[in-house]
Amino acid sequence: MVYDNIVLIGFMGSGKTSVGKVLSRQLFKKFMDVDSIIEAEQKSSVREIFEKKGEKYFRTLEQKCINTLTKKTGQVIATGGGLPIYSSLSAKSLVIYIDADFDVILNRLPAKERNKRPLLENEERARALFVERIPIYKEKAHFSVDANQSVATYKHMILDYILDKRVL
Ligand code: S3P
Repeated sequence: MVYDNIVLIGFMGSGKTSVGKVLSRQLFKKFMDVDSIIEAEQKSSVREIFEKKGEKYFRTLEQKCINTLTKKTGQVIATGGGLPIYSSLSAKSLVIYIDADFDVILNRLPAKERNKRPLLENEERARALFVERIPIYKEKAHFSVDANQSVATYKHMILDYILDKRVL
C-alpha cells in the first residue's frame, strides 16, 4: 500500500512537531501542523479556544482540519495529542506514533510549552490521560518509534521504515 500522507500522532509534547519538520525536509514533503493551522484560522491560541469555546468545539475544528488536509497528498502532518482519540484518520494516511514516556515528556518540556497546553495543567490528570491514550495511539499507528531519545537519533528509524517498506 502506498500512502498519501504521513500523520504523526502521540501525546502532548512528545516531539511530533520537531520530528515532523525534520522528516518533511528529508523527504521533500510539505510540513503541516494541525494546531498551528487551527490557531491561524481562528486567530486564537489553542488555550484561548479551550477557555472561550470549550474542548468539544476544539475537537470539531481538529476533525475539520485533518479532513481538509488529507484531501491533499505529499505532506507530513503533525497532529495534536487528542486528535486520533476524537477524530478519524484517512485510511490513506501512514500513521506513525511518536512514543515518549510521560516523565521524559515532562522533563523535556519548558514551562512556556507546558503553559500552552491546558490538559497538562494538572499533572495527575495528565498522567491518567496518558495511560488511557497509549493503547489508542498504538492501535491507530502503522509504526511506533521510541521517542525517549533525540530526534536526530530516532528520525532514522522512521526514515528506514518508510524507505525500506516503500510505503510512500
Ligand atoms: C491536546 C494536545 C495539544 C493541543 C491541545 C490538546 C491533547 O497538542 O492540541 O492542547 O488533547 O492532547 P500537542 O500534542 O501538540 O501538545
